[in-house]
Amino acid sequence: MTTQPQTVALITGAGSGIGRALTLLLAQRGATVVATDRDPARVDKTRQLADGFKGAIESGVLDVTDAAAVEEMVRTAHARHGRIDYLFNNAGIAVAGEVQNVTLKDWNSVLDVNLHGVVHGVVAAYGIMVEQGFGHIVNTASIEGLAPFPGTVSYVASKHAVVGLSTALRAEGAGLGVRVSVVCPGLILTRIFEDTKYVGIEREEVLESLPEWMGVNPEECAERIMRGVDRNRPIIPITGLAWVLWILTRMSPSLVLRMMQRNVRRARAQNAASKTS
Ligand SMILES: NC(=O)c1ccc[n+]([C@@H]2O[C@H](COP(=O)([O-])OP(=O)(O)OC[C@H]3O[C@@H](n4cnc5c(N)ncnc54)[C@H](O)[C@@H]3O)[C@@H](O)[C@H]2O)c1
Repeated sequence: MTTQPQTVALITGAGSGIGRALTLLLAQRGATVVATDRDPARVDKTRQLADGFKGAIESGVLDVTDAAAVEEMVRTAHARHGRIDYLFNNAGIAVAGEVQNVTLKDWNSVLDVNLHGVVHGVVAAYGIMVEQGFGHIVNTASIEGLAPFPGTVSYVASKHAVVGLSTALRAEGAGLGVRVSVVCPGLILTRIFEDTKYVGIEREEVLESLPEWMGVNPEECAERIMRGVDRNRPIIPITGLAWVLWILTRMSPSLVLRMMQRNVRRARAQNAASKTS
C-alpha cells in the first residue's frame, strides 16, 4: 500500500476486531485515522495501542445509527484535514436464531446498524468525495451478503443490501473519481460472536462449535482488505471458504440452497438433542 503522510481515513466500529486492526494498520503506515466506535473504552484502547505509530489517531465516540452524528464526524474531519481519502463503514452487529424467534426490535437493531449505519456514512462522505474528485468508500458486508445463510436472516438481509448498495454506487461513482468496494469476510476471529444476541439457541454452544480453524485473525483480515482496496477491487471476499462459497453460489444457487437446508436440519436436530440431554 502506498500511504502518503496526508492520507486521511475514517473508520467506524474501530474499537474491536476488524475495525481496530484496520485502524492500527493504516496508522502504522502513516495515515491520519479518525477512529470511532459507540463504545468509548474500546475505541480508547485502540488509540492507546497505536501509541508511537507513524500516523496519527484521533478517536471519538460515534454511534452509526445517529445520522446527524455521522454527518458531523465526517464534516469535522474534512474541515480539519482538508481531505478524506477513505471511509470504512465497518461497524456491525448480529442477531442469531430462527426467524420465528426474532422480534421486530431485533430486525430493526440489525438493519439500523448494518444498513442504515452504512447509508449514513455514504450520505455524509460521498458528496465531499465527489467534490474532491477522489476518495474510496469501503463498506464491510460479509459472505452472508453473497450467499443465503439461514439462522441469521436479518443479518443476511442487511449484508445483501450493503453489497447491492456498494456495487451500484461504485458504478455511479466511477466517472466522478469516487471508488467503492465491499468487503465480504468469512469467519474472522473477533468478539462479534460473543456480542451477538442469540435467540432460541445457546450462546455457549454456538461459541464452542465455531470452526476456528477456518477463521482468520483480524490483523490478517485487515492486510487482505487493504490489498483489495489498493487494487480497487469491487468485491473483496476474505478467507478461502468465503471465496469458494461465493463462486459456488454463482455457479449453482440451487446446490448452495440445498446445502443450507441440510445445515438447518442438522442445527435443529442438535438443538433438540441438547435440550433433552
Ligand atoms: N467477524 C466475522 O466473522 C465477520 C464476518 C463477516 C463480516 N463481519 C463484519 O465485519 C464488521 C466488523 O466486525 P468484527 O467482527 O470486527 O466485530 P467486533 O464486534 O469485533 O467489532 C465491531 C465493533 O463495532 C462497534 N459497533 C457496534 N454497533 C455500533 C454502532 N451502532 N455504532 C458504532 N459502532 C458500533 C462495536 O462496539 C465493536 O467495537 C461488521 O460489519 C461485521 O458484520 C465480521
